[in-house]
Amino acid sequence: MKRILPIAATVAVLSLFVAAQTTKTTAPADTASTPKIHQVPAPQTPASSGEANYKAYCAACHGAAGKGDGPAAPALKIPPADLSRLSANAGGKYPTMHIQEMIRNADSPAHGSKDMPIWGPVFRNMSGGSQSQVELRVANLTKYIETLQAK
Ligand code: HEC
Repeated sequence: MKRILPIAATVAVLSLFVAAQTTKTTAPADTASTPKIHQVPAPQTPASSGEANYKAYCAACHGAAGKGDGPAAPALKIPPADLSRLSANAGGKYPTMHIQEMIRNADSPAHGSKDMPIWGPVFRNMSGGSQSQVELRVANLTKYIETLQAK
């Protein structure tokens, strides 16, 4: 049985449905080209797999390779960041702490948008309140995103 997650969890995965929709080859004639965002409950993934977490929670906006070109991107006011250029943008060094903080809180004043979901509370719900599970998820996601960096 699926757990009922509080509001934060449904907000966070608002784009998964879009991901599924846009993989269809034929679009209904009356549908505009801009995808609509639908909110669905956050699916469970193992905290131990950064890749599984990325695909389930991030790729719809940021794209499978992190380039900010996920299927939900056109529906957002602010384009999703290109996560493959984080090292390049930070002078060649992967900004681990910044990424972890962005995933947990997404409230860096430099970004100041609410289009990027705040994942800390969502992950906490999924882990039954276990902070160490939240940190494991954030750490593995951060490591996975490091593998997407442009060489
Ligand atoms: C609903 C779409 C959406 C989803 C889903 C999403 N993001 Fe984002 N993300 C954004 C947007 C939009 C921005 C840019 C925010 C801004 O500039 O204010 C962003 C920014 C970021 C940044 C900041 C990059 C920088 O240059 O500082 C990181 C890191 C990030 N996202 C990671 C993630 C991770 C990890 C996930 C999955 C757990 C995720 N995002 C899921 C939309 C999304």
